[in-house]
Amino acid sequence: MSDLALSYAREQGSRFVEELKELLRIPSISTTPERAGDVRRAAEFVAEGLRAAGMEGVRLIETTTPERTGHPLVYAEWLKAAPAADGKAKPTVLLYGHYDVQPPDPLDEWKSPPFEPEVRDGNIYARGAVDDKGQMWMHVKALESLLKADGKLPVNVRVIVEGEEEVGGEGIAAFVREHGDQLKADAALVSDTEMFAPDLPTLCVGLRGMIYTELEARGAATDLHSGMYGGAAPNPFVALAQIIAKLKGEDGHVAIPGFYDGIEEPTADELKAWKTLPFDEEEYRSHEVGSAELTGEAGYSVLERTWSRPTMDVHGMPGGFSGAGAKTVIPAKATAKISFRLVPGMKPDATFAKYKAFVEAVCPKGIQVKATLIHSGEPIVVSTDNAYVRAATAAMAEVFGKPTVFVRGGGSIPIVGDFVRELGIPTVMMGFGLPDDNLHAPNEKFHLANFHRGIQSIVLFLQGVGEGVGAAA
Ligand code: BES
Ligand code: MN
Ligand code: MN
Repeated sequence: MSDLALSYAREQGSRFVEELKELLRIPSISTTPERAGDVRRAAEFVAEGLRAAGMEGVRLIETTTPERTGHPLVYAEWLKAAPAADGKAKPTVLLYGHYDVQPPDPLDEWKSPPFEPEVRDGNIYARGAVDDKGQMWMHVKALESLLKADGKLPVNVRVIVEGEEEVGGEGIAAFVREHGDQLKADAALVSDTEMFAPDLPTLCVGLRGMIYTELEARGAATDLHSGMYGGAAPNPFVALAQIIAKLKGEDGHVAIPGFYDGIEEPTADELKAWKTLPFDEEEYRSHEVGSAELTGEAGYSVLERTWSRPTMDVHGMPGGFSGAGAKTVIPAKATAKISFRLVPGMKPDATFAKYKAFVEAVCPKGIQVKATLIHSGEPIVVSTDNAYVRAATAAMAEVFGKPTVFVRGGGSIPIVGDFVRELGIPTVMMGFGLPDDNLHAPNEKFHLANFHRGIQSIVLFLQGVGEGVGAAA
């Protein structure tokens, strides 16, 4: 194996970080319509990076249809890997990442502004630093290192980078459904997950699915003076509070009839392996969560609660008066943004139908409630019994100098399910985030050592796949 690519990555490492900073300065917030131009600028930046790396066929793929406005996909390929000595064609690996980010608010909680990346104590701070611009950029830089140092890649590679992951990934899902042949590959590599602990090489082998909903409650025909009408007019916020309280009990159990039907439990081996992970619940409570107590379903560990059990959360309740000071109003309507995390065995559409029927049934009198589905994604557990997972396990173990562990993630990456189910390819989730990287929160960061170790791991993974590491004899 040539380590020219690793030397190149080491020598060029600080330039890679400077380029990442440029990308992080683009506020590509996919959920905010006013940011569509910035989202496109980020797509073009990624495309340019892939071209400069030496990738071919680089193009933006539009996802806007008559029904919806979408953000572009970025595609690139390099399909010239020479066959092995025995004439066998090299496999094709599909690299996936996303260049869109979550909104940065609350802004006053950031120590440095979210779109002005700053390096402090070996970490780069910015929205998207780890989720997922920094990790996606590792892919681009690994390809550049191989192409510039060796003049070729050890395998065939396709790259697909989306700009709608944080809003459900509808555009990429349609593309995979309709043009899956253009992404034909033998395996996918995704770097959009975390390591279980610092310095502990980790592959993620399962993600929760989700449904993200909006629940709108309407009462009076118009906003009312709460002194003149309070006591007689229905209040939609109170109604939402009552409905939400019925959705999930204090025991952490979701009360929707049939919600848990069909859930597939983790295997005994998986549960046993989770017990050996270095997890300190008290440390997790005090340092990561920072709350007085942890909550959740009795009888399940924290790892089970966040990885293999479904749950419900409320994200915000827009409506009424939320400015500074006081306004005595009974709002005519109120909204709650409510999502559910799903685990294998649960179907997004069926879960939404049960939820909708439940909220309609428990809706207080005088209130009309309307549930809408904003986006959804299927849960997934990937197989670990294949050459690609073995090659990734070996690559990470080599870079970190320790055996690689398998975990699940509580988050969702909707397209991963489609890679496995629609494209039928094994998917490797090799992520380099850390538990305290503040994804979706103020002061998001990426540990720069992991950015560099990520590039090395991806280089070694691609080289390993090219050499048949982990393949059955
Ligand atoms: N990268 C995350 C998902 C993730 C985080 C997986 C940590 C495993 C460990 C991704 O960008 C994300 O945040 N997804 C959203 C999906 C949704 C908006 C459809 C999520 O999980 O909330
Ligand atoms: Mn992500
Ligand atoms: Mn995210």
